[in-house]
Amino acid sequence: MVPVMHTENILGQSPELETVLRAAQMVSKADCPVLILGESGTGKEELARMLHRLSPRSGGPFIAVNCGALPAELAESELFGHRRGAFTGADRDQPGFVGAAEGGTLFLDEIGDLPLALQPKLLRFLERSERQPLGDPCARKANVRVLTATHRDLHAASDQGSFRRDLFYRLHVVPLELPPLRLRGNDVLLLADHFLGEFARTHGAAAPRLDRSARRALLAHPWPGNVRELRHLCERLVLLLPGQVLGAENLGLRRTSHADRMPSREAGNLVQLPAEGIELEALEHDLLRQAMQRTRGCKARAARLLGLSRNTLLYRLKKHAIEG
Ligand SMILES: Nc1ncnc2c1ncn2[C@@H]1O[C@H](COP(=O)(O)OP(=O)(O)OP(=O)(O)O)[C@@H](O)[C@H]1O
Ligand SMILES: [Mg+2]
Repeated sequence: MVPVMHTENILGQSPELETVLRAAQMVSKADCPVLILGESGTGKEELARMLHRLSPRSGGPFIAVNCGALPAELAESELFGHRRGAFTGADRDQPGFVGAAEGGTLFLDEIGDLPLALQPKLLRFLERSERQPLGDPCARKANVRVLTATHRDLHAASDQGSFRRDLFYRLHVVPLELPPLRLRGNDVLLLADHFLGEFARTHGAAAPRLDRSARRALLAHPWPGNVRELRHLCERLVLLLPGQVLGAENLGLRRTSHADRMPSREAGNLVQLPAEGIELEALEHDLLRQAMQRTRGCKARAARLLGLSRNTLLYRLKKHAIEG
C-alpha cells in the first residue's frame, strides 16, 4: 500500500481520513478533474490546495472561485474572460478566472451552484481544453487543471434537473469524499491540541490544556461545522481562558449529540407505525439498498445518510447480503 505522505496542512491519522489522502496523492500527478465532496468545514479547499501543491503544476497559479458568488449575468465573462467591447463597460480584454489559472489549477468551489446556463460551457471547456472569451471569434487553447468541490449531493441535483447529468459524469471521474469530523475518532483531540498551540503562538498567550472530561466532550460532540467549528472553538478558548486546565463545562458544547440531527424526534414519532404492523427487517433491507444506490456504492456517504458508523453499515450490509 502507498504510505500516506506528510501533509502539513491536513492533520489527522484516522483511517477514514488516510484513505482519502492516499487516493488524493495517487491522483495528484494526473491532470484529471477531481470532485471533492464533504460537509461544510471538512477541509475541501485545503485538500484542493494540497492536490495543487503535489502536482506538476505547483509552480503555476492556484485560482479559487466560489461558483455560488458568481453574479448570474456576469458569470460567463468572469469565468472565461471577454474581449474589449464585448459588452457595455468592457473597456479592456480580461482573461477571466480560466485565463488567470493558465499553467496551474482552477478550483471551482460550490460547483453545485454554477448557473445552469454555464454548465454546458464548462463541459465544453473540460472536454476540449479550449476557452472562448466573450466577444472573441476564436477559441483559445487552455492549459488548466480543474478541481471542483461541493457539500451538496450532486447526484440528487442531477436527478432533479438543477445540475446537468453530462457535466456531473465528467466531474465525477475521481470523487474524493472527506469524512465528517465526528467519524474521524481521535483526530478531534489531535486537531484540538494542534489548534490550541497554534492560536497560543498567534496571540502570544499560554495554551489552555484539556482535562479528561473535556476530551470526552470533544469526542462526543457531533461537530456540524466540522474542522472549522473546532478551530474557532480553540481560538476562543485561547483568548478567553489562556493557560488554564479546561473541563467539559468550559467548552460551551451542547450535551446532546446525535439527537440534534434528528429534529423530528422531538416533534413526536420519527415515523408512524401502521396499524397493521410492518416488516422491520424488510424495511431495513430496503433503506440500506436505497442508500447504496443513491450514493452509487460509496459506503462513507451511505453510512452518513443512515446515521450509522461505517462499521455498523458494513455489518448490516453483510447481514442483509447486500453487495457493497
Ligand atoms: N485536517 C485538517 N487539519 C488541519 N486543519 C484543517 C483540516 N481540515 C480543515 N482544516 C482547516 O479548517 C478550516 C476549514 O477548512 P476548508 O475551508 O478547507 O473547509 P471546506 O470543506 O472548504 O468548507 P466549506 O464547505 O464551508 O467551504 C480551514 O481553516 C482549514 O485550514
Ligand atoms: Mg470551502
